[in-house]
Amino acid sequence: MSKAQAKKTEPQDAIQVEVETWGAFIDGEFVPAECGETFPTFNPSNGQVVGHLAQCDEEDIDKAVRAAQAAFPAWKRKTAAARASALMKLAGLVRSHGPKLAELESINAGKPIRDSRAIDAVTAIDALEYFAGIASKVQGDTIPVPGPYINMTLREPLGVIGGIIPWNYPLLQAVWKIAPAIAVGNTVVIKPAEQACLSVMYLGKLCQEAGIPAGVVNIVPGYGHTAGTALVDHHVVAKIMFTGSTETGKKIAALAAQTLKPVGLELGGKSAIVVYEDAPIDQAAALAATSIFSNQGQVCTAGSRLFLHERIKDQVLDKVVKAAQKVRIGDQLDPKTTMGPLISARQKDRVQGYIESGKSDANLVYSHAMPDGLEDGHFVGPHIFDEVENWMKIAREEIFGPVLSVLTFKDETEVLALANDSPYGLAASVITRDIGRAMRAAQSFEAGNIWINTWGAVSSMAPYGGYKQSGYGREMGFAVVNEVTQEKNVWVSVR
Ligand code: NAI
Ligand code: MG
Repeated sequence: MSKAQAKKTEPQDAIQVEVETWGAFIDGEFVPAECGETFPTFNPSNGQVVGHLAQCDEEDIDKAVRAAQAAFPAWKRKTAAARASALMKLAGLVRSHGPKLAELESINAGKPIRDSRAIDAVTAIDALEYFAGIASKVQGDTIPVPGPYINMTLREPLGVIGGIIPWNYPLLQAVWKIAPAIAVGNTVVIKPAEQACLSVMYLGKLCQEAGIPAGVVNIVPGYGHTAGTALVDHHVVAKIMFTGSTETGKKIAALAAQTLKPVGLELGGKSAIVVYEDAPIDQAAALAATSIFSNQGQVCTAGSRLFLHERIKDQVLDKVVKAAQKVRIGDQLDPKTTMGPLISARQKDRVQGYIESGKSDANLVYSHAMPDGLEDGHFVGPHIFDEVENWMKIAREEIFGPVLSVLTFKDETEVLALANDSPYGLAASVITRDIGRAMRAAQSFEAGNIWINTWGAVSSMAPYGGYKQSGYGREMGFAVVNEVTQEKNVWVSVR
């Protein structure tokens, strides 16, 4: 690994960017790509190169899959306690390296450092510890079939699982794929997103240090259409677990069908937040603002459609605008920053395209004044559109930026129908003091994750996933155990 000190930029005094070249993490070692090439990765707030990654393709994926295949029998045979202990060791290392991981996440993914410090590594540790606990809880059933038999099921790992992850929560997404899979005895090959994978490569180093046997976890950086496609197409890979866009999810499902590989898909969303007339105004406005401005709006469950009852609309909107005014956009490494840059020039163009489309369809009521000095980054500040209707492009498509659509409603039947009138079904929130109305919304929403009087809560213990074109399969909770194992039925004659 070659190291060079990058130029320090103000006001990142405490945070130094060490530009490293990362090989692919295959069979316990960091190795260059077979083709010998690397690709650069950037700090999205200034375009500075912050790392180089092995540019992996089909041959490297094949090497990683073979390593994972070779490691599988011994890893599967290990006791659950041994696998749990490896995960606990990794959790401990993620904890002690938490500050470094937070810095890498911020530098490379553009996340405000205060969020990376408070959220990403902490949530990753929680998942590692939870799945360490799950390792010993996987069991089958006995079934009282008629006749002179005992019938039972064995729950077994699948083999090599391929994980393809996005750039908005790289570390967390990697852990959400790795932890459940290896806890129950699978081995994994992770293809991180080309835009931001430094924290994921660093996690590979921690896997090494935790003594996770070579080949159990492999991390292969590269582009989606090359390395990603090769992983999906590889005949040894037993399953693909993917998080990313609906468009790519469809391509992956189609390609995986060629080898009859099951896939788990956690895709995009256009989530509704429904605020009734009895809602606490301050709480509703704060939740709405958090849901669309956190992580620059690059959150799959972002509350991008805010449905406000006509009686309280002006009050809530006014407070959401005030919250937008308070957003501090800028260098993500400054602890005072609350909004960093979008991940790439491409995402900035996309989001700006939606803002233009919103301007022609709806009423732009807030557009953040951009401070000077951010010209080299992919910054887009908060934007709020009023008078949005559900047919408009900004209400139908996932924007993945800090762009809020406000829609007004009069009655319950109407708003529940509108909330569900979306190709997506990832999440929905309802804010009201009326328990009956809240529960009717929970029953009615066509979405996998429902929040009542809150938004964005997730836990390693609770199943997470989408309805409709937000995907299928579940992550976390005990639900994911079924996704990363298969059931074998055994008949025993007692005659
Ligand atoms: P993407 O879905 O294309 O990329 C996600 C991952 O899939 C990356 O690791 C990428 O390398 C890989 N990939 C891309 N094409 C592939 C292929 N054909 N086969 C296998 N792997 C492939 O997302 P992208 O293009 O970076 O962002 C576009 C839009 O996707 C965003 O604007 C946003 O709307 C949505 N998105 C949603 C996410 C979510 O959490 N639901 C995360 C990232 C993006
Ligand atoms: Mg893409």
